[in-house]
Amino acid sequence: MTAQQYLKKTEKKRLDELFKFLKFPSVSAKSEHKKDMVACASWLRDHLKTIGFKAKTCSTGGHPVVYAEYLKNKKAPTVLYYGHYDVQPVEPLELWESKPFQPVIRNGYIYARGATDDKGQTFTHVKGLEAVIKATGSLPINVKFLIEGEEEVHSANLPAFIKKNKKMLNADIVVVSDTAQFSRTQPAVTYGLRGIACVEVYVYGPNRDVHSGSFGGAITNPVNALCGMMAKMHDKDGKVTIPGFYQKVKPVSKWERKEFGKLPHNDERYRRSLGVPALAGEKGYSTLERTWSRPTLDINGITGGYQGEGAKTIIPAWASCKITMRLVPNQDQTDICDRIEKYLQKVAPKSVRVKVVKYGGAPGVVVPSDGPWLEAAAAAVKAGFGKRPVFMKEGGSIPIVGDFKSILGLDTLLIGFGLSDDNIHSPNERFRVLDFERGCKTAAALAFELAKVKTR
Ligand code: BES
Ligand code: MN
Ligand code: MN
Repeated sequence: MTAQQYLKKTEKKRLDELFKFLKFPSVSAKSEHKKDMVACASWLRDHLKTIGFKAKTCSTGGHPVVYAEYLKNKKAPTVLYYGHYDVQPVEPLELWESKPFQPVIRNGYIYARGATDDKGQTFTHVKGLEAVIKATGSLPINVKFLIEGEEEVHSANLPAFIKKNKKMLNADIVVVSDTAQFSRTQPAVTYGLRGIACVEVYVYGPNRDVHSGSFGGAITNPVNALCGMMAKMHDKDGKVTIPGFYQKVKPVSKWERKEFGKLPHNDERYRRSLGVPALAGEKGYSTLERTWSRPTLDINGITGGYQGEGAKTIIPAWASCKITMRLVPNQDQTDICDRIEKYLQKVAPKSVRVKVVKYGGAPGVVVPSDGPWLEAAAAAVKAGFGKRPVFMKEGGSIPIVGDFKSILGLDTLLIGFGLSDDNIHSPNERFRVLDFERGCKTAAALAFELAKVKTR
């Protein structure tokens, strides 16, 4: 029996097991789910043990890390598989057509929070490797799994864990499936991710909410002030106005412009899929360049004053907003946070007080877009999907990928099985059953392809 035959025979069981994994409400952002995080990590550890891995859960300053290994073949390459078992919060719950932690299959899709991001995708490697073990009695590569529970909250404790366990995590290459295909007819391997820098801005006005008739006109309204400040963050060409924001940004290369131009992207279809009247962004760049290779600034949420039913005529005491900036390689998240703080203090009216809380973030990364590892990934995708992948970048971030390079000196293969309309981070997150199956097939094939790469 081959690994692919084993996969075919065990599809039903594999889906049942994925459902068990998806049922844990492993929302890392919420302290009420602390116990669920531990339960989910323990389940995954035990599942890996039943397959033949040596597995453990490791405590960190936050949610536990699952580590597992299968080291049998001294001469073969060692592959570090990374994924995350934590998921985003599920709100707004009323928009879900079925419960987020009661997975169901509808119209060929598995619906559940985490179905794609990232339990489903992580599980493809667990089950793909299981198939290889069951079919051949062993693995052609040495495997290490590092599956964390804090990716969606910026992987706060993982860099320290990696530094402390450098030897345990030592490998030749990292494999991550936490991205997407280019489209439903075109699989992809990703060679770049944007980074992120996060801040929260507070604007303080009077020492209490005051009557907007009695005091209006004499003091600055913090909500007005914050909106005014936010209106100054972009110029008319869609460029971010923070001084030095683009200082380290390399221009989009001719090669990249050409490669992106070849991809089957269609602006009008993209516009319609989002339901917007027009696309918009930095002048002089295409949609793919804007989302993959250029940095951005977005307000994620803005709060202040009275939002309840009916009228309330006040000048609120304060206003605040959360901002994230997507970064490209060479931009440093700490430097960018310092720059935005300085700029906000400068553009704020003198009649309010401004506080900027800086959360840092993660750097953007690019990994090699050719070479033997990439060739192995492409061949595996061809085996799983029946079609060679295109090479693309992603606008989203996987914070730890930069650390794999800087701490462990390792490049990462980003092999995504999701689709852009899988609703990750949204209500009705889903994963196409077909893509889960193709992912498992790719994962099984990948073990054999990676085994062929000469590491020394
Ligand atoms: N899997 C995503 C990253 C991603 C998003 C890849 C879209 C490809 C397409 C990951 O789980 C994620 O959501 N990352 C966060 C990181 C943040 C919380 C620091 C992100 O990009 O917002
Ligand atoms: Mn993810
Ligand atoms: Mn995510």
